[in-house]
Amino acid sequence: MEQTREHWSGRLGFTLAAVGSAVGLGNMWRFSYMAAENGGAAFVMLYVVMTLLVGLPVMLAELTLGRGSGKSPIQALVHYGGNAWKPLGALFVMAGVVILAYYSVIAGWTVRYTVDAALTGFPTEAGDRFGAIASGIPALCWHLVFMAVTIVVVSGGIRAGIERAALILMPVLGFLVIALAIYAATLEGSGAGYAYYFQTDFAAIWQTDVLRDAAGQAFFSLSLGMGAILTYASYLDRNTDLPAESVTIAISDFGVAFLAGMVVFPLIFALGLQEDVGASTLGALFITLPKAFASMGPAGNWIGIAFFVALVVGGLTSAISLLEVVVSSAIDATGTSRGKAAWICGGLIALLGVPSALSLDVLGLMDQIGGNLFLIFGGLLLSVFVGWVMPDAMDEASEGSRFGGLLFGWKTLLRFVVPVILAAVLWFSLLDTAEMVQGLIAG
Ligand code: PFF
Repeated sequence: MEQTREHWSGRLGFTLAAVGSAVGLGNMWRFSYMAAENGGAAFVMLYVVMTLLVGLPVMLAELTLGRGSGKSPIQALVHYGGNAWKPLGALFVMAGVVILAYYSVIAGWTVRYTVDAALTGFPTEAGDRFGAIASGIPALCWHLVFMAVTIVVVSGGIRAGIERAALILMPVLGFLVIALAIYAATLEGSGAGYAYYFQTDFAAIWQTDVLRDAAGQAFFSLSLGMGAILTYASYLDRNTDLPAESVTIAISDFGVAFLAGMVVFPLIFALGLQEDVGASTLGALFITLPKAFASMGPAGNWIGIAFFVALVVGGLTSAISLLEVVVSSAIDATGTSRGKAAWICGGLIALLGVPSALSLDVLGLMDQIGGNLFLIFGGLLLSVFVGWVMPDAMDEASEGSRFGGLLFGWKTLLRFVVPVILAAVLWFSLLDTAEMVQGLIAG
């Protein structure tokens, strides 16, 4: 079976697909709103620390496990650790299912905004519009449309589907984000936005919820903790430089998140909409930014469309990787065809997304459970697995690498540092989730 497994056509195809997985709604929507909620630059700094200390080691662990086994997550874990590790693989697949179910609803909003803007422009009453499209039948329809596109790409396979989409879409996204950041810098009054973004509330660094959010966001944004990077790496050739790839993916991911902040904050402040930032919630970006675009006249419409197209593109390449985890696992487990697996798994996930499409509270809870708890827990067990259980992990990680000599600290990080940090983060996330569930029940 391994001989027939598809491979990327080359290094670029893999890199763009993996960067495509990492760069998504998490960078442009979740990052800005987390930064706004958690003390601006203090959050960004903690986020960088978490990426370096925890994200990069786990990223390399996923790459190592994926390429080493050449298998989808469940089978990769069983390959090196035996059946006892099957549940962890199942957790990965479940995380993919849960995250994609609500992620696709949000991505559906972005498609809807883009289409609406192209047809009728951005509404001044953005709050009402958001209320009208975020939940209910419209949200459900666009969620289904988005899922269908994702399924079509994944059923095309690695080269003709996933790689081709990344090759076309990622340059578009890079161009749009850079152009938007340059444009935002030319706006009168943008300085206040930068000042807000770069304000350093050092006290925030020591708050456990900021730490928790920074770690959770790093995992979400880098697509770690559920085997997405692992799955993509399972289609890699043995001569790929894994440490170099992990650094490329992490830098690109941070670059886009950081640049997205350089678009969002100047825009909002230049147009005097800063009160909205303080009240940052899940939907803020979808209300404040359209308001900004609407008040900018005809140029605002084009800028807005560019912004939302970037969101759609980022969302799609990430959704593809989420579905690929589930589909590759289904193919490996049952031997069924890719097309069939993609439509059946994608269809079930679309169904699971229905409650999120009907209620923002459910969506928020799914994000908390899937996007925070599952990924952190998955990352914790994965670091233990590669640090302690997988034989010859170091040899596998450094094969084909120019930087093998630099990996001496990697295993130590995976064994001792990463699990301790992630266990702490998991604990704070659990407390937070409990609070959220209580709130939902009470209210
Ligand atoms: N990294 C994606 C984003 O930032 O939007 C979301 C994501 C994709 C999370 C794939 C997890 C994953 F496995």
